[in-house]
Amino acid sequence: MKRISVIGAGYVGLVSGAGLAHVGHDVTCVDVDPARVAAIASGRPPFFEEGLPELLAGVLAAGRFRATTDLASAVRESDFTMLAVGTPFDGSRIDLSSVIAAAEEVGHALRTKTGRHVVIVKSTVVPGTTDQTVRTVLERASGRVVGPDLGLAMNPEFLSEGSAVEDFLRPDRIVVGAGDESTSREVAALYAAFGGVPVLAVNNTTAEMIKYASNAVLATLISFANELGNLCQTLGGVDMADVSRGVSLAGYFRPEGSTEPVPITAFLRAGCGFGGSCLPKDVRALVRHGRDAGEPMRLLSAVMEVNDDQPERVIALLQRHFRPLSGVEVAVLGLSFKPGTDDIRESPAVPVLRRLADEGAKVRAYDPLASGAMAARLPGLGLRFADSLDAAIDGAQAVVVLTAWDEFRRLPALACATDRPPVLVDGRRLIDRSSYGTYEGIGC
Ligand SMILES: NC(=O)c1ccc[n+]([C@@H]2O[C@H](COP(=O)([O-])OP(=O)(O)OC[C@H]3O[C@@H](n4cnc5c(N)ncnc54)[C@H](O)[C@@H]3O)[C@@H](O)[C@H]2O)c1
Repeated sequence: MKRISVIGAGYVGLVSGAGLAHVGHDVTCVDVDPARVAAIASGRPPFFEEGLPELLAGVLAAGRFRATTDLASAVRESDFTMLAVGTPFDGSRIDLSSVIAAAEEVGHALRTKTGRHVVIVKSTVVPGTTDQTVRTVLERASGRVVGPDLGLAMNPEFLSEGSAVEDFLRPDRIVVGAGDESTSREVAALYAAFGGVPVLAVNNTTAEMIKYASNAVLATLISFANELGNLCQTLGGVDMADVSRGVSLAGYFRPEGSTEPVPITAFLRAGCGFGGSCLPKDVRALVRHGRDAGEPMRLLSAVMEVNDDQPERVIALLQRHFRPLSGVEVAVLGLSFKPGTDDIRESPAVPVLRRLADEGAKVRAYDPLASGAMAARLPGLGLRFADSLDAAIDGAQAVVVLTAWDEFRRLPALACATDRPPVLVDGRRLIDRSSYGTYEGIGC
């Protein structure tokens, strides 16, 4: 059992903190937001994540987990501190102000603690940040130097929202960056309970780059599929869904003896684009970081360009049937950036809703989890929100699917039961096109 403090109780900090407590460590999560801390301390996660309420209840009951705003005490009463604060994109680069503020506070707290302490950067930061920015701030604030008294590591997190608890408790790999072997071993040992998982020990900059590369490859596949899907649509008579399937059946995408392609091929499907708090931010940050270093980053720039245009494809498909869109009753189904989460950060639904409002469409939106977040995000657009799928499509002339929630698979059956089935614009290629009357899908 190790004593760990985690700074930042968001998706990564809270799930990692509760997960590490679950496997036997003693964990204190710290956040600057007192309301968030109070909610967590009383067993209520501040965001939706499958399995998190149960995980949190278990570790709170076991007395191995607590939440606080008191960073200094949490650091002094632990031997490892993970920095899991946000690193949002500020329009040109990642904003490191929370990382710097947290590192500074951790450093100050270490002045009144004796014994070795290891600081682990878990936030996604561009290559070089841990060894340069974080190290400088930490050494200055703590009065220690990285060495026997102070360990510095970079341990990127690969969990995905929507399956965060499962991803954390069943990791596919543990990447540990560190400048020396003993720090690397100490950090890897925190994950000893996850036996059998490959552990990759590298330096801090490599660990940072592995995180960006992991997200960039997914974003690249998605934009690749979207670009080809857009071409399929323009050419006519060819559906990107069939093309993706054909590509995915290649031997190099399929384990020997299996007829099912490997999971990565799911990223080869055309749709309305990727969103969320990670992929767009991380690709943009890497492009900027590369340019700052003198590399033009042409491929990843194009990945973002393609992605930024995808929401407009949804509008164009609607306009095939309704021009102008003014006054048209449109049901927008799905607001979160992916199923299983209430997170709407960078969701394609935001630009689509804005465009529909600009065009004067009458929008009724529905999402099983994210309606409240979207109502707060886009006030003043005149959006209406339905509290069920059935209510959303009642009286709609068009239905737009933007998130692949399972319950939307009921659409063909629901539409069949109406006198005038709405036109379906499927931004996620969720519905079998042959099962629906007037169907428009991205990539076909
Ligand atoms: N969300 C994901 O799926 C995901 C996955 C992998 C990596 N990451 C990376 O992990 C990092 C955290 O992401 P997140 O989604 O958990 O962010 P988040 O915005 O959900 O949470 C960050 C938390 O840090 C708190 N905070 C900010 N400054 C603080 C300070 N000085 N002291 C204490 N608390 C502070 C905020 O109040 C907030 O609760 C980011 O770098 C992100 O890119 C995120």
